[in-house]
Amino acid sequence: MTQILIIDQAGKEKAIEARDGTSLMVAAKSAGIDMEGACEGCMACSTCHVIVDPAWADKLQPPAEAEQDMLDLTYGVTPNSRLSCQIVIAPQLDGLTVRLPATTRNMMG
Ligand code: FES
Repeated sequence: MTQILIIDQAGKEKAIEARDGTSLMVAAKSAGIDMEGACEGCMACSTCHVIVDPAWADKLQPPAEAEQDMLDLTYGVTPNSRLSCQIVIAPQLDGLTVRLPATTRNMMG
């Protein structure tokens, strides 16, 4: 298990235990984080948008083109924005810190 720190819209931090090999979106939802993940990881909704702590941004695999295309349409996107359904939990991500954006927009809705 890998520990991930999630900071919600109110600035409250919650450490979750995530199973290696699952996506951050699935791990966050399983841990009760208020994240919609409407398309269940198909890169079609952007409701799993997270903002990665700058200290961690370079440690993740860069987004694939399809993820970047979806991020380009995402509301409130930042240079460190990612779709959490595309972040695969692995031991080297222990301590990864992400922030939930103020709002998300369901591109499927
Ligand atoms: S869950 Fe829909 S884009 Fe990630």
